[in-house]
Amino acid sequence: MNPPRQDGSGSWQQYLTIPTALLAPAPETVDLINAATLPLAALTADQALKRLDLHADDRLLITGAAGSVGGMAIQLAAIAGVRTAALVSRREHEPAVLDLGAASPHSNPATAGKFDAIFDTAGVFNHPELLREGGRLVTVSDDTIPVALEERAALAVHNYVQHAPQRLRELSALVDAGTIRLRVAEQYPLNRIEDAHRRAEAGSLLGKVVVIM
Ligand SMILES: NC(=O)c1ccc[n+]([C@@H]2O[C@H](COP(=O)([O-])OP(=O)(O)OC[C@H]3O[C@@H](n4cnc5c(N)ncnc54)[C@H](OP(=O)(O)O)[C@@H]3O)[C@@H](O)[C@H]2O)c1
Repeated sequence: MNPPRQDGSGSWQQYLTIPTALLAPAPETVDLINAATLPLAALTADQALKRLDLHADDRLLITGAAGSVGGMAIQLAAIAGVRTAALVSRREHEPAVLDLGAASPHSNPATAGKFDAIFDTAGVFNHPELLREGGRLVTVSDDTIPVALEERAALAVHNYVQHAPQRLRELSALVDAGTIRLRVAEQYPLNRIEDAHRRAEAGSLLGKVVVIM
């Protein structure tokens, strides 16, 4: 997890320097292609779920649930004993979110129900009626939170992932224990980076697009 910098450098290079204090060992039971999908998606999901301050009896909705962050959030919520409704953009993704541990899959927000907490990974979650009055919403998209949602929420915030090496170590251990599943949708060599971008932009992914160097 090493974001692009102003000078154009970032993770897409064969060698880079990164403070050792930010590192955690990769899981040992999966290859590095799979391991590469863990840090950003898992830490993003984990930190957003923590911000939602969930209790076991909370009704939680995750939007973009078939995506990388959403799919990780389903699994982490299940580990925490929270029942999750999973909102996906297309009906054919419903089996995938059930498989990850969602209690109920939804492709139509109108029939999804009412929730104490919403974790929005899809962006522009403009269905205020799905959040109960006084509920909590955390989004990891950059989009503006609709006013109607803000007005009924006790908490409606953006959350941005932070390095958390100790937690990443624990998440790696959960992968090795078989508790968290990693998902690679497609892999591309670096010389096909344009194709990788086009594939990512096309959407309908069930997992990460991985670029291999
Ligand atoms: N704040 C942070 O720190 C942070 C960190 C990491 C990522 N992010 C952001 O988090 C978002 C998710 O990342 P990701 O890696 O999980 O992307 P992803 O794998 O592409 O997942 C996004 C998911 O949202 C679905 N979606 C789109 N519109 C939807 C809708 N109206 N209803 C339900 N589902 C919908 C997509 O489905 P289809 O593709 O099938 O339409 C896809 O499954 C991105 O915006 C990313 O930039 C933020």
